[in-house]
Amino acid sequence: MTSTQQSPSVEDVRAALKDVYDPEIKKPITDLGMVKDVVVGDDGVVTVSVYLTVAGCPLKDTITRDTTKAVGKLDGVRDVRVELDVMSDEQRTELRKSLRGDAAEPVIPFAQPGSLTRVYCVASGKGGVGKSSVTVNLAVAMAERGLSVGVVDADIYGHSVPRMLGATEKPTKVDTMIMPPQAHGVKVISIGMFTPGNTPVVWRGPMLHRALQQFLADVFWGDLDILLLDLPPGTGDIAISVAQLIPNAEILVVTTPQQAAAEVAERAGAIAMQTRQRLAGVIENMSWLETPSGERMEIFGAGGGQTVADSLSKSTGAKVPLLGQVPLDPRLREQGDAGTPLVLAEPEAPAAQVLKDVAKQLSVRARGLAGMMLNVTPKGR
Ligand SMILES: Nc1ncnc2c1ncn2[C@@H]1O[C@H](COP(=O)(O)OP(=O)(O)OP(=O)(O)O)[C@@H](O)[C@H]1O
Ligand SMILES: [Mg+2]
Repeated sequence: MTSTQQSPSVEDVRAALKDVYDPEIKKPITDLGMVKDVVVGDDGVVTVSVYLTVAGCPLKDTITRDTTKAVGKLDGVRDVRVELDVMSDEQRTELRKSLRGDAAEPVIPFAQPGSLTRVYCVASGKGGVGKSSVTVNLAVAMAERGLSVGVVDADIYGHSVPRMLGATEKPTKVDTMIMPPQAHGVKVISIGMFTPGNTPVVWRGPMLHRALQQFLADVFWGDLDILLLDLPPGTGDIAISVAQLIPNAEILVVTTPQQAAAEVAERAGAIAMQTRQRLAGVIENMSWLETPSGERMEIFGAGGGQTVADSLSKSTGAKVPLLGQVPLDPRLREQGDAGTPLVLAEPEAPAAQVLKDVAKQLSVRARGLAGMMLNVTPKGR
């Protein structure tokens, strides 16, 4: 850069700052009232003062880096200095109002008429069939497809989603909004993020309902294409709460091939009929183990997924598809423990391929009558 070059104007710098996005809110810092001041020196040194939404914002380094980069690109800039300040309570309240409106009670955006977010609840009758594993793999596979995805770990007692996604950061609070951490491009919230260490949660029904409501209403999700909820096993309080809070949520039933498990899974699916929720489909997990010689060992039997799909189709009077059969693969567990879902860590693995295919089916599916309660009773019942 030559010394004869003119320094940019303050307007030029402000225009360049439109390219700097708040990493949590995903909007330009110029739109969020986060630019406190811009000073351009004759010597080409530009000082930008930025308001962080909260003190100790975990993403301040990202904001500083992006600001330096955006302003540094301008002609005539010799150096960029970023000074950080923190918003006052009033500023935070203003910001919250500009993002969420001025409603006294927080509303659940996904339950509003016209919401474009598809909500899938991953449910099962039995525990340990792979709901959480399926949830995180579908989430990152959908994010990879370019969709904006959020995950709610609604398994308040057995929260495992943050670990499986490798989401180590804590949520931050801006006024009354909770900013969800992100991992692999997916926004995630879990009760595990609010309890110290591994403290077990011993909450009763009404508190669970309140916690879920908060996750849905107080968390700033932005415009999501897909929201996945990882439900606890069984047909308990949380499933009913979800149905009340987001009536348009669709149910994904996970089962193993085992007949006994399939019967339990059917009951979990049947709750959708009482709550009049749509059944998006069935995913069979742990379907077989492929031996090195290419043989399929059916460790947990066969046919459970198809049985559940057929039975739910019959009882709802609409086709409930078997979306996929995910084989057993030790790498699925290992990568889950390591915080990188299989579809990212080993995309070529057969189990990853099936999960990616299910993610595709659920992403491109147009809204239709599939799996919807038609209010008819099949003959002979
Ligand atoms: N296809 C698979 N191959 C190998 N291991 C798997 C597979 N699916 C799940 N697992 C492993 O099985 C265990 C249970 O899976 P997961 O936690 O996803 O089930 P869950 O239904 O969410 O359980 P819970 O009911 O306790 O919430 C985990 O250790 C997981 O890594
Ligand atoms: Mg689970």
